[in-house]
Formats: sequence, C-alpha cells, structure tokens
Amino acid sequence: MSVPALVVEDLRKEFRSKPKRSLFKVFRKSRRPENGAADGTNGGDGANGSNGAKTIVAVDGVSFSVPQGEVFGLLGPNGAGKTTTIKMLSTLLRPTSGRVLVQGLEVEKEPAKVLSRIGTVLSGERCVYWKLTGRENLQYFGALYGLSGPRLTKKISDLLERFQLSQRADETVEKYSTGMKRRIALARALLHEPEVLILDEPTAGLDPQAARNLRELILELKSEGKTVLLTTHYMEEADFLSDRVAIIDHGKVIALDSPDHLKRELRQVRVVELEAGEWRDEFGQTLKAAGLISSWSAQRPPDGETWRVVIHLPLEVSVGTVIKAYLEQGNSVQNLTVKEASLEDVFIQLTGKSLRD
Ligand SMILES: Nc1ncnc2c1ncn2[C@@H]1O[C@H](COP(=O)(O)OP(=O)(O)OP(=O)(O)O)[C@@H](O)[C@H]1O
Ligand SMILES: [Mg+2]
Repeated sequence: MSVPALVVEDLRKEFRSKPKRSLFKVFRKSRRPENGAADGTNGGDGANGSNGAKTIVAVDGVSFSVPQGEVFGLLGPNGAGKTTTIKMLSTLLRPTSGRVLVQGLEVEKEPAKVLSRIGTVLSGERCVYWKLTGRENLQYFGALYGLSGPRLTKKISDLLERFQLSQRADETVEKYSTGMKRRIALARALLHEPEVLILDEPTAGLDPQAARNLRELILELKSEGKTVLLTTHYMEEADFLSDRVAIIDHGKVIALDSPDHLKRELRQVRVVELEAGEWRDEFGQTLKAAGLISSWSAQRPPDGETWRVVIHLPLEVSVGTVIKAYLEQGNSVQNLTVKEASLEDVFIQLTGKSLRD
C-alpha cells in the first residue's frame, strides 16, 4: 500500500496570550510598595496564569490520515481550529504536541522536503505580491523553487492559460478581482508541481460563479491525482468536493467520514426548517422531553424579524404533531419546509448548534 499523503497524529496547539495591561493597572502596580499584589496573590489578575496569561487551546488532539488522491474537507465554524491545523501541516506553525507526516516525511524534522511536496494557499493572507504583475509573481516564486529558463517560461504560460489569466498577466495583481487573486495564488502554489495541495477556504469571498469555477478547478486537480486538503464553512462545498470530511469544533474532530455516510446516520430523522415568529430554547427542551424532536438549532439573522429554526424529528413523529405542540405554546410559524438531511444537519445533531452560529 502506498504511503498516505498526510498523516496527522494527536495534534495540539496552544496559544498563550497575555492581556494588554491597562494604564490604570500599570499605575496601580507602580504604587505598590513591593513586589507582589496587595491582595496576597503574585500579582495575577487573570483567568489562567499567575500573570493573567490565558491559554487558548486552538487544536485539541486532532488525528486523521489522507490517502493519496483524496479530497479531504475540514468543516467547522469560526474559531474551530481549521487554519491553525493547516498552518501546522504547512510548516508555518509549530505544534505544541503531536506530529504531522507529509508523504511519510515528518514536518518538524524535514520542513524543506515537505515544502517541496506541498502547495499552500491560505485565506485572507497575501500569497502573492500585489505590486508585481501576475507573470512577475510566478517568475519570482518559480525562481525561489529553483526553476528557470524555458522550462519556467513554459510552466508560467501554461498556468496563466489554465487559470484564465493570460489576458491580464502583465497587470499588477492589485488590479485583479478577488477571483483572479485567488487563481494567481493557486497558480503560484502549483508552480513546483506539488502532489499535495492545502487550501484554506478556497472559495470564501468569491461570487457564486467564481466559486463554482474554483470548485471545478479543484476537482480537475483531483482528477490529475493530486491530494487536496481544504477547509470550509460551507457544508454544500464540503459535500460536493470532499471524498471524506472531518467535522471540527472547538479544536476537536467530532465526526469523520464520507459525506454520504455522515448523512446516512441521519436517515432516521426528518429535517424540518421553520421560519418562526419567536423561538426560545425552552420550546426545544419541552418538545424534546415529549419525544417529539431529537435535536434543534435556532438562529435569528441579525437583520431578521423571524427565526430560522431547524428541527430533527424521529421518523415515527409526524410533522403535524410537532407543529401543533409548538403552536399550542402560543407561537407562530410563517413558513415550513421538509428538507433532505445535509452535512449541516449532521453538525446540528452532533453539537446542537448550527454551523453558522
Ligand atoms: N496567533 C494566535 N494567537 C492566539 N490565538 C489564536 C492565534 N491564532 C488562532 N488563535 C485562536 O485559535 C482558535 C482557532 O483559530 P483558527 O483560526 O484556527 O480557527 P478557524 O477554524 O480557522 O476559524 P475561521 O473559520 O474563522 O477561519 C481561535 O480561538 C483563535 O482565536
Ligand atoms: Mg480559518
């Protein structure tokens, strides 16, 4: 059997952050007669540490393995630990503990070799220089990878063609649209022909058409045998692109399987989406205690009048019975849709909250 493209073993990352000291506290401290606080402690004012330092566990024992040629999705809400995980995979952050292997090479021990095998595009970070043209960026990064001469020139023109950037190749990247910036970053990541691609939220911020194009590009790369690890907030995207998905929440993998298998677990429930005038968690608790629903998630869009409530019903319970019980509590329902289970429903079932909470 071939070596897996990626192996992540019990990976953990802690960040220690010291809160900024307010001028008031600095002033107070400077008036203290000696070292040590007046309240008898060692001067600490904080949550975790004696000096107020806090420890944030961003990634909390994550393990998974990705075979060659697979698209593997890391799906989770804001702050789940997705970017921190992929930064550790890409040599950009050192783990607190645990280890990562890329094609059998340990990232901490052989970072240079690992870098030659992976191409990384991080979201929200400038992976290319905006004051250089698209072509100049590829020339620059190509040279860093040790490419030169006609081979590099050919490689660059192929990539520009493939990513539909040839027409604008000699304009500075700052003039590119968001979609074009994302494509030039991806072209840069592919220059050295890495076998593993690591993409942080590849379609975030793109319009629907540009996002669709990029998803197609990712599938094309998969069809060429590349391994892709991507992160996303969008369950539809994880479902569409990934052979397997790890759902990550609070730094932990809470489910890992193919999208179909994850959804199959949910075939025992009916998924109903309500637009409701009001929702309080007591409603959910009452309905659950009566055996009418198995889980729920409720959200009020910031500018919305109505709540969006997703409820999961055991198959033997009719939608009518639940709605009647809900209306009897004095509530109103504006709209009701019975839906197919999605990955978002898997997340709700596992955590009792929506991915977009
Ligand atoms: N350099 C840092 N210092 C302190 N805390 C950090 C640092 N980087 C990330 N964190 C914290 O670690 C946690 C995980 O962050 P991370 O960026 O990995 O989440 P994410 O899943 O990528 O979220 P998003 O979907 O918003 O991109 C968060 O609580 C975040 O605030
Ligand atoms: Mg992130």
